[in-house]
Amino acid sequence: MKIIMLGAPGAGKGTQAKKIAEKYSIPHISTGDIFRANIKNGTELGKKAKTYMDQGLLVPDELVVDLVIDRFAQDDCANGYVLDGFPRTIPQAEALDAALAKINEKIDYAINVEVPDENIIKRMSGRRACVSCGATYHLEHIPPKKEGICDTCGAELILRDDDKPETVQKRLNVYHEQTQPLIDYYTSKNVLKEVDGTVDMAEVFAAIVKVLGE
Ligand code: AP5
Ligand code: MG
Repeated sequence: MKIIMLGAPGAGKGTQAKKIAEKYSIPHISTGDIFRANIKNGTELGKKAKTYMDQGLLVPDELVVDLVIDRFAQDDCANGYVLDGFPRTIPQAEALDAALAKINEKIDYAINVEVPDENIIKRMSGRRACVSCGATYHLEHIPPKKEGICDTCGAELILRDDDKPETVQKRLNVYHEQTQPLIDYYTSKNVLKEVDGTVDMAEVFAAIVKVLGE
């Protein structure tokens, strides 16, 4: 099963993609997480990506596409994957389709997690991310057991640099301009499924499972 998660920054793509990956035993591929891991490890890719990410801008397509397509070659992708944060532009979607067409494959579902802009800024200011393992929490909705400390690995929890309110607004603008057109793109391919992302996380997941089948 090959799934794409669509939605504004903070819509809950990462939260839901993790649950989908567990339930259907497929890998969760998040380009944002890949870039953040590269930034943490001080790689060349990380240095380049950081300059765009900190401003709320997209990393150029040429730095993203090959990275994701190369990832598909790994054994764990044999039964599919859930893509979170990719594609994010029409050229990325076209490159993905072209790479899949070469091996006679295609995307099965593009799930759009819908959350209005008004809800997003509030959500993002409450998100906390682990500096070490990347696990995410929310001060109100999924608080860590011990304040400021990751339940999974014990490292420090921080507000992501790009989660500051002014950067979130910029990311929302970039989303509307460059990523929202993908909704029409996948509608025309008959794979788009919409779910309401404003309800409780468990309810959002139940709606997704209904779309994907048990
Ligand atoms: P990326 O990491 O993908 O960020 P994003 O798309 O902006 O999305 P987020 O991770 O911020 O949100 P999410 O939808 O995953 O929400 P989450 O589940 O965490 O990308 C970061 C940057 O990398 C980009 O800005 C860009 O620069 C670059 N980049 C990445 N991919 C790229 C690409 N393909 N091309 C070019 N550049 C790229 O949830 C948010 C919060 O809300 C959490 O705290 C969560 O706990 C909470 N929450 C989730 N669901 C609910 C709910 N139902 N109710 C209440 N709270 C909820
Ligand atoms: Mg995410």
